[in-house]
Amino acid sequence: MPASSLDTIVSLSKRRGFVFPSSSVYGGLGSTWDYGPLGVELKNNVKRAWWRSVVHERDDMEGLDAAILMNRLVWKYSGHEDTFSDPMMDCRACKTRPRADHVFAAQKGREPHGLDEINAAIAAREIACPSCGSHDLTPARPFNLMFRTTVGPVDSGDESALVYLRPETAQGIFVNFGNVLDTMRRKLPFGIAQVGKAFRNEITPGNFTFRTREFEQMEIEYFVRPGEDEAAHEMWIAERTKWYLSLGMKPENLRAREQDRSELAHYAKRCVDLEYRFPMGFSELEGIANRTDFDLRSHSRSPGNPDAIGELQYYDPEQKKHLVPYVIEPSAGADRATLAFLCDAYEDALVKEPPQEETAKLRDLVETLARSVGRREGMASDVKQRLTASAEAIAAGLPGTLPQLIGLMADEAAAGIEVMKKVRGVGERMAEEHTRTVLHLHPRLAPLCVAVFPLKRNDPRLVEMARGLKRDLQRAGLRSVYDDTGAIGKLYRRQDEIGTPWCVTVDYQSLEDRTVTLRDRDSMKQERLGTSELASSVSARLA
Ligand code: GAP
Repeated sequence: MPASSLDTIVSLSKRRGFVFPSSSVYGGLGSTWDYGPLGVELKNNVKRAWWRSVVHERDDMEGLDAAILMNRLVWKYSGHEDTFSDPMMDCRACKTRPRADHVFAAQKGREPHGLDEINAAIAAREIACPSCGSHDLTPARPFNLMFRTTVGPVDSGDESALVYLRPETAQGIFVNFGNVLDTMRRKLPFGIAQVGKAFRNEITPGNFTFRTREFEQMEIEYFVRPGEDEAAHEMWIAERTKWYLSLGMKPENLRAREQDRSELAHYAKRCVDLEYRFPMGFSELEGIANRTDFDLRSHSRSPGNPDAIGELQYYDPEQKKHLVPYVIEPSAGADRATLAFLCDAYEDALVKEPPQEETAKLRDLVETLARSVGRREGMASDVKQRLTASAEAIAAGLPGTLPQLIGLMADEAAAGIEVMKKVRGVGERMAEEHTRTVLHLHPRLAPLCVAVFPLKRNDPRLVEMARGLKRDLQRAGLRSVYDDTGAIGKLYRRQDEIGTPWCVTVDYQSLEDRTVTLRDRDSMKQERLGTSELASSVSARLA
């Protein structure tokens, strides 16, 4: 079964070195995460696959790596200083700070028309605090999401040294439009791609790495003649959808959703979101917007922008005139894509029936857990209901529901319940022995490509041959590891859990005829291959 909750993915990520809470030795920093040894490989593979698809495999694209810190004027003329904000209000009763537009929409059943309408509703006591129900709310104020810092050794106190950490990589591309055009002698249509960090002081970060304050974007600005923008938009919607599917994402988990007018950013004529079915529901993975000529015009010298030094235009040799190109922007999140691929790849299943008495013991414990949750004070009623229903269903379905129990054991809401320790004591051991967790990651995304094991770690001949094979595979450009820290069955399961597509075992026959077994993660089938053809055979499967 797929991951039933994000907690299952968070738990696997921490346990197996994909993602750790950031600065955890000091208690962490809310909603910031560090990619561990396997996570960095996975995310790098996602970024590499994206770059290969949108830059190397196309003839109409260039790459760029612009600075994070830019002249503040970039953000003035892009509109971010004025408009990149969320309206916030304070509840005087419970001291929370909810997003006023979300509260308005939820309680009045429609989007508000600007701050004035929200504040009129607050003054008329038509909307209430979503946490405590009080109407004692301050007027809503815009809260800018850009992080501020200063350049130079002295913070002079005024705003002359103020710069922002970029909230999108896109502006670095727009302000380099002329540089790329001139140096690469490009003709329309062409695009510029960039991968890099972006920062937003999000009001409500959460859902693991889905919404954070520091994240990476993979953005394309694709420049076309006005009038050719709509066809280019359709082309990119199709291309980007194909990319996710080509890397194994299940089609039923991916959908395109047209943004309605009230959702459109100030610069967009149209935007289609590619959404993934995360455990918390369909949510944005990538936005593909038609930004028209808004940005190139905004950064061009004009009566409205006396600070720009020139005009960001294109001389069209066919029409023999200057024009301002329109822009199609497929804007993806590297962290969101990585999380989506992880969720999509996750599967756990019962592979062996446990003895009846063990199942009965676990059933008793899970039933006790369901009752303890029901009696628990101070737990929100929706969480209580969810945990109770989940524990009751698992208890009734054991041992077939052992994989779901893995999710429940990882659920942070259930962590403080006393009997959970006992459930874990029995459940984790049974899950280890009787279930198999697999990440069916596309081989090009998997953190490791091949794991090589000696059948026995105390036989130097097997160890030497296995280590040598690992080196040969690595030299062939295949990310490989050597492992001898357990029995072969256990080593296979460890590699399944982190998504390694192939395992190689060196046994006694290998010493005689220089063949090894190659085991496939998904089919679990094994075949015998000569060591001389191992690297080329794995490379061929990877292509
Ligand atoms: N240049 C356009 C732009 O930045 P966006 O929809 O705000 O558009 C594009 O962001 C993508 O960046 C999103 O689809 C998402 O994948 C990613 N993203 C945005 N905010 C994020 C956040 N707080 N945490 C993680 N990823 C985020």
